[in-house]
Amino acid sequence: MKKVYNIAIDGPAGAGKSTIARSVAERLHFVYVDTGAMYRAMALYFLRNGIPSSDEAAISRAAEEVNVTIAYKNGEQQVLLNGENVSGLIRTGEVSAMASATSVYLPVRKKLVELQKKLAEKENVIMDGRDIGTCVLPDADLKIYLTASSKVRARRRFGQLRNSGTEYTLEDIEKDIIERDNRDMNREVSPLKQAEDAVFVDSSSMTARQVEEQIVELFKQKKERGEK
Ligand code: DC
Repeated sequence: MKKVYNIAIDGPAGAGKSTIARSVAERLHFVYVDTGAMYRAMALYFLRNGIPSSDEAAISRAAEEVNVTIAYKNGEQQVLLNGENVSGLIRTGEVSAMASATSVYLPVRKKLVELQKKLAEKENVIMDGRDIGTCVLPDADLKIYLTASSKVRARRRFGQLRNSGTEYTLEDIEKDIIERDNRDMNREVSPLKQAEDAVFVDSSSMTARQVEEQIVELFKQKKERGEK
């Protein structure tokens, strides 16, 4: 059977994981899998159906019923919620908060992790999230833990949002990032943490291009050495 390569990128909100993973995927001709989008699609379902994040039983029941899948159009990932492409509806603050709050529940994670593992079995993927190196792809060929200071992450987010006329201040955004970090790092099930064999990359004073180069280089070295 042909060898399939997997790269895992984990890290806190706003570290630049998706930007980097997308460009590395293009360079290496890998498929990019954004796992956060799957948690966000589930969160949208809970919001649409008025299920509060505190109601664990209702969230667990709904997670079992709902169907989240992904598809690719012109190389871009689309996330489908019961067949509907919801990619354009999942980047709001409300969905971010709901995704972080409901990703703590085991039935939600179990369902999405299964789907993620299946995707990585079939083709070369670069997958980003919070538990990719620790739970989803423990045998990934390369694992990266990508982070940056909360100030830098907030400034980057603010820069993106300002173009769309946001009313949030830089302080609001940093507060939201710190809250989300705390929840993602301290939950009981699959918390965000660096896998033992992950390479730590602090992008606070690096450009996206520099991070991309470093990851591509690390992958090439690993591949040449034929290492796991
Ligand atoms: O990466 P993101 O900001 O789109 O993720 C949204 C939320 O989903 C994040 O706050 C925590 C959760 N998440 C997770 O628990 N595990 C993942 N692999 C990806 C995201």
